Amino acid sequence: MTKKTIAVLPGDGIGPEVTRAATQVMENIARLHDHEFVFKEGLIGGSAIDEKGGPLPLETKEISAASDGILLGAVGGPKWDRLPGANRPEKGLLEIRKSLDLYANLRPVKAYSALIESSPLKEEIVADVDFLIVRELTGGLYFGEPKKREDADGETRAVDTLIYKTSEIKRIAERAFQAARLRKGKVVSVDKANVLESSRLWRETVDDIRVDYPDVELEHMLVDNAAMQLIAQPAAFDVIVTENTFGDILSDEASMLTGSLGLLPSASMGSTDVGLYEPVHGSAPDIAGENRANPLAAISSAAMMLKYGFEMEKEAKQIETAIETVLADGYRTADIALKTEETVTTAEMTEAVIKALE
Ligand code: NAD
Ligand code: IPM
Ligand code: MN
Repeated sequence: MTKKTIAVLPGDGIGPEVTRAATQVMENIARLHDHEFVFKEGLIGGSAIDEKGGPLPLETKEISAASDGILLGAVGGPKWDRLPGANRPEKGLLEIRKSLDLYANLRPVKAYSALIESSPLKEEIVADVDFLIVRELTGGLYFGEPKKREDADGETRAVDTLIYKTSEIKRIAERAFQAARLRKGKVVSVDKANVLESSRLWRETVDDIRVDYPDVELEHMLVDNAAMQLIAQPAAFDVIVTENTFGDILSDEASMLTGSLGLLPSASMGSTDVGLYEPVHGSAPDIAGENRANPLAAISSAAMMLKYGFEMEKEAKQIETAIETVLADGYRTADIALKTEETVTTAEMTEAVIKALE
């Protein structure tokens, strides 16, 4: 029996609905394997602003830092959209990533064979899609200083700063090369080196690190071309490594290769053992509270926690297989259903996954 303490940060919008689905699946994994998972809930984002006055209360930081793994839903929503940047729900998420030094965000993109028709792209384009986006998560435009507004010459100016240091690029490049060794041995590094100085440093540094990984194939690609190649020939990618903002945008684009943003999980890892696991999607205010959200991204994120955080390969695989089974059996939340298909609710999809674990 293994005991693990898991910080659960549901957040806002559909966050609570999909994290509940993920913890229910984990409870069943614990029961089937005689593990003990202790869930400790914490406030983050808009709900934390409403209850505690800030997006990342101290208790949440403490629960998270003391846990074996963090499961997060999503933060943000229209209610808090007019707050200044430093007080927004999203700031809580950025702060927890930064404070735990979770610099490597792994976002696997794999087409489920049962869902090939759910993608708006042609079957032959998406059928063999299986790649990993390695997104740098604690640098770049998101965190660079100065970040400010100022009044000058009779108008207002807003400043964001895009900074990368070699040490930040080195460590994420190493993660990407290591991941490629366990996959098909091919890294595409995405940048904008024809325009941005930070991208030129990115490219040089990735080339330097590459020397230690002569067995891995490396290609540099400009981000605008990468956005196009992701649609033109997505099955050609194995590992994509890129900076924070590009990785954010490209992963939402990539989600449609699988059929829905509601399918993509992620793991954020750093220099400590505590990882943060969360769906790639946001709080989906348009469907929040309606029991319509696809819980599979959150459930897959829980599987990533078992695999990468707890070395529970077998248990993680059991969840992945259960997801494939329910999709093959025709369970469809609204986001992945064809016009003619019947849909199930968040709770019904979760229940089906739990049944398929047995
Ligand atoms: P979003 O990802 O919340 O939603 C985009 C679209 O995808 C919506 O139509 C939504 O209904 C749909 N969608 C997303 N997840 C789904 C799911 N599981 N099942 C079915 N459909 C799903 O992006 P947005 O609308 O641009 O942002 C809404 C809020 O979420 C914003 O406040 C934003 O800052 C926040 N956000 C948070 C995170 C996070 O917490 N990691 C990520 C992205 C956006
Ligand atoms: C994501 C989200 C976040 C990001 C926001 C909510 C800060 O879009 O996790 O992809 O941009 O990293
Ligand atoms: Mn995003």
